[in-house]
Amino acid sequence: MDSPFLLRKGVIREVIPENENTKRFLIEVEEFPPFKPGQFNMLYVYGQGEVPISISSMRRDLVEHTVRLVGEVTEDLFSMKEGDVIGVRGPYGSHFPLELFRGFDLVLVAGGLGLADIKPVVEYVVERREDYSRVYLLVGAKNPAGLLYRERYGEWMGKGIDLLLTVDRPEGSWEGHVGVVTDLFEFVDVDPQKTVGMMCGPEVMMYFTVRKFLEIGVEESRTFLSMERHMKCAVGTCGHCQFGYTFVCKDGPVFSYARIKPIFGVKEL
Ligand SMILES: Cc1cc2nc3c(=O)[nH]c(=O)nc-3n(C[C@H](O)[C@H](O)[C@H](O)COP(=O)(O)OP(=O)(O)OC[C@H]3O[C@@H](n4cnc5c(N)ncnc54)[C@H](O)[C@@H]3O)c2cc1C
Ligand code: FES
Repeated sequence: MDSPFLLRKGVIREVIPENENTKRFLIEVEEFPPFKPGQFNMLYVYGQGEVPISISSMRRDLVEHTVRLVGEVTEDLFSMKEGDVIGVRGPYGSHFPLELFRGFDLVLVAGGLGLADIKPVVEYVVERREDYSRVYLLVGAKNPAGLLYRERYGEWMGKGIDLLLTVDRPEGSWEGHVGVVTDLFEFVDVDPQKTVGMMCGPEVMMYFTVRKFLEIGVEESRTFLSMERHMKCAVGTCGHCQFGYTFVCKDGPVFSYARIKPIFGVKEL
């Protein structure tokens, strides 16, 4: 069996700018194992360091990551181009358990970069559209430029995904909804007894989104969120990602709300 620390060679094959501080990297990784929506890789920029980054597409030929520039490692990653080599280890962590909910309505909620984590969920569903009932994708961003993967929206809607968008600041020619992502629940028509909620975004956004799901009657055990914490090992040994009684790298990043209810929203945890 491969070591959980096995570092694979990744060759960057394409770099796609999404907006001024976000880029998509398509990486060829030798013998990359199967993975599930919601899992992440550790990307190693040689000589600089490693960062956990969600796998942002279900495609296997080129592993896709969408990266926002925030600090040292992501800055070095941003200077990389086609043909450059990075280390990739993974996939790690829990996933959005779509396989358990065939026949259910799905409400997927993404805030900003959180869509990177939800996009594989959408792709998984689009491939098996007949397995699910109504499917909503609610996406919120600070401004129109923050709405990622816009070239895919038409295809998703064509496959029966009800896509609802909102921005905080309506810049340029934006004529759509303005407000926070939870406002979009007003347009959602599902049967709460057979609905599953899945979300990723800033913690404060997820805090209010969980409240919305509970308000409309979706069970805590069917409301899933993806958490973020600083990571080092990614395999549950170093303790860096401890979140109350869980390790985000091993027990998460995807948790049901029922699992983390006592610790979710607790300051400094
Ligand atoms: C499971 C998981 C999935 C992730 N998926 C993505 C993704 O798809 N795309 C993406 O761009 N980023 C993602 N991140 C966040 C990414 O790992 C951090 O932005 C990255 O580690 C920052 O590294 P850096 O060296 O560039 O910045 P640093 O120099 O380490 O930090 C810059 C600033 O960001 C803060 N920061 C760094 N890491 C985190 C973190 N994990 N949580 C909160 N604050 C942090 C630091 O405190 C500091 O203020 C994910 C994190 C986790 C845990
Ligand atoms: S990152 Fe080491 S225990 Fe989670």
